[in-house]
Amino acid sequence: MCGIVGFTGKQSAAPVLLDGLKKLEYRGYDSAGISVMDGKKIAVSKVTGRIANLCEKTQDGTNVSGFTGIGHTRWATHGAPTEENAHPHLSNDGRFAVVHNGIIENYLILREELKQAGYHFDSETDTEVIVHLVEMYYRGDVKEALMRTANRLQGSYALGVICSEQPGKIYAMREASPLILGVGVGENFFASDVTALVSHTRNVIYLEDGEFAELSGDSIRIFDLSGQQIHKKITRIMWDVQAAEKGGYEHFMLKEIMEQPAAVKATIAPRIKGGKICFDELSVTQEDLKGISQIIITACGSAYYAGCAGKYALERLTRIPVQVELASELRYSDPLIDEQTLLIVISQSGETADTIAAMRECKARGAKTLAIVNVVGSTVSTIADYTVYTWAGPEIAVATTKGYTTQVAVLYMLAIYVAEKLGRIGEETADYIKTLQALPRRIQQAIDMNPSIPAFAKKYHKSKALFFIGRNTDYATALEGALKMKEISYLHSEAYAAGELKHGTIALIEEHQPIIALCCNPSIMEKTLSNIVEVKSRGAEVLALTFRNNQKILSVADDLLFIPETDALFAGVIEIVPLQLLAYYVAKENNCDIDKPKNLAKSVTVE
Ligand code: F6R
Repeated sequence: MCGIVGFTGKQSAAPVLLDGLKKLEYRGYDSAGISVMDGKKIAVSKVTGRIANLCEKTQDGTNVSGFTGIGHTRWATHGAPTEENAHPHLSNDGRFAVVHNGIIENYLILREELKQAGYHFDSETDTEVIVHLVEMYYRGDVKEALMRTANRLQGSYALGVICSEQPGKIYAMREASPLILGVGVGENFFASDVTALVSHTRNVIYLEDGEFAELSGDSIRIFDLSGQQIHKKITRIMWDVQAAEKGGYEHFMLKEIMEQPAAVKATIAPRIKGGKICFDELSVTQEDLKGISQIIITACGSAYYAGCAGKYALERLTRIPVQVELASELRYSDPLIDEQTLLIVISQSGETADTIAAMRECKARGAKTLAIVNVVGSTVSTIADYTVYTWAGPEIAVATTKGYTTQVAVLYMLAIYVAEKLGRIGEETADYIKTLQALPRRIQQAIDMNPSIPAFAKKYHKSKALFFIGRNTDYATALEGALKMKEISYLHSEAYAAGELKHGTIALIEEHQPIIALCCNPSIMEKTLSNIVEVKSRGAEVLALTFRNNQKILSVADDLLFIPETDALFAGVIEIVPLQLLAYYVAKENNCDIDKPKNLAKSVTVE
C-alpha cells in the first residue's frame, strides 16, 4: 500500500526522501513522487513505475534543492497509476503539497463542494480534496487548517503536508493509517513504517488516531484535534539496519525463509521458563480463562491460514471451541460474540484494515481481544486488550514467511498455556514443550533435507495449475502453500481438503496434472494415501511431502519433499517451509518479481 515519508533538517531533503521511499518499496506501489521546499516555493517531481525512475528524473535528488520535503509511493486505488494521480498533490495556489495513505470515503461530495467553490482538480484521486480543503481553511495557521480539514474527512488517512509559508516545517496527521515520527538530532522525520527511519534514527514516536504533529529540525510538537498539545513517549527501535537488508541473498523472501529457525526461536525461547509456557504480557487468571466459552480467530490472507493451522492445537488441548473467520467476512456478519468470547487477532503488520475493523466490531460486542502481531506499536496492538509479539524482525518480502511461522508458533504456545492453566493437560505438557523447543532445529532440518526443490521447480513451473491436497493439519498447511505459490509465481494453485476430491475437484485431474500431497499427519495418513492412489490412477503426478522414512508414501509418490518427524499437532511450522521454498524456486523459474509480486501490497491498509 502507499508509503509516505517526510524530512526536515539541515541536509538536502530529496536524497533523504528518495532513500526513505526505497525502504518503503516493499509495501507495493505503482508510482512515486517527492515535494521539496527551497524556502520560497514547492517543487514537485513525480513518476510512474519504480523509485529508480524518480532517482533518474531528479538525478538522485541532486537537482531538487531544499531542506524540507515529503515523499510518497502510490498503490493506485482512485484513478490509474499515472503521473497526474501520483502524489504529492499541490493546492491550486501552489502553497501546499500533500501526500496521503488511506482512503477518503466522502471524497465525491467534497470534490463537488470544492469545485463549486472554484477549486480545479488535476487528478482523479480522493487525496486531492485534502490539499484543496487545507488551502480553503488556511488563514495563516497550518494547524488550524489541518484541524478543520480533519473535521471534514471520512475514512482513513496518514497525511504529510508542507506549506511554502512555513519553511522548515513538515506536518503529519493520522486517522486509521500508520504513521511514525522519527526523532533525530537537528533533523526530524516521519514515515509509514520504521524501515524508512532506522538508518537515520532509532528513536520514534507512534502517532495515534486523531493526532497530528508539527515537525521542524529541532522540535516535534504533537496535538489532538482540539489543538491541545500532547506529550508522547519516545520508543527505541531495537532491531538493526541489516535486518531490513538482503544480507547476500538474492531476494528478501529467501533471506526471510532462511531466518525462520532464528525467528521461531526468538518467539518461543523467552516464553519457556521452568518447564512452562509463560506469557509475561498476559495478566490472565484461571478464572478469566474459565469464563471463555468460545475462541474466534480472525485475520486476512496468510495470517488467516496461520489461524487455521493453529486451531487444531488450540481446540485439541484446551477443549474450547475455536472458529477461524476471515476478517473481511466477520466484520459484516453480525457475529455471535459476547463477553465470553476470546477474539484472537493475527496480523504481521498490525495495520490490515479489515482485521482492525473486525476487531473493533467484536470488541464493541464485548469480546476480550488478544492480538498476535509482529510490528511493535502497530494499530492492532494499540486496540487489543493483550498483545503477544512474534519476534520475527522486519519482514520485507510481500509474501509472508517468517511472519506466518512465528504466528503459528504463538498459537501452539497459547494452546499449551491455556490448556495448562485450565488443568486440561498434565504431565504431557513437558513433552509438548520439548516439541516446541525442537521446532527451530527441525525447521533448519527441513531446509537442509530438500536439495531437490530447485529441480522440482524446473519440472513443475510450466504447469497450467498446481493442486495441493491434505487433511486436517495438512490441509491447513496446504492452504498456505497454495497461496504462497500463486502470489509469487502467478501459477494457478489451489488447496483442497483431500477428502473433498470426490465431491467435484477430481474432475480436474488429467494426465500429468501435478498434485502436491501433504502427508505429515499419521492419524489420517492412510486416508490421504487413498486419495493419492485415486489421482495417480487418473494420470496425476504426485509430489508428496512427508517424513523421510515413510515407506508407504515413498512407494506411491513420483517426487518427494521431506520434513523431520515430529508431533503432527505442531508440524505446521515445519511443513510449510519446503512449500515456501518450492514457491520461491517456481517463481524464480518464471522470472517473477519475487519480493514485490504484481498487484500486491505488503500492508493492506485499505478495505
Ligand atoms: C501473503 C500475505 C498476506 C498477508 C495478509 C495479512 O503472503 O502476506 O496474505 O498475510 O495481507 O497481513 P497482516 O498479517 O499484515 O495483517
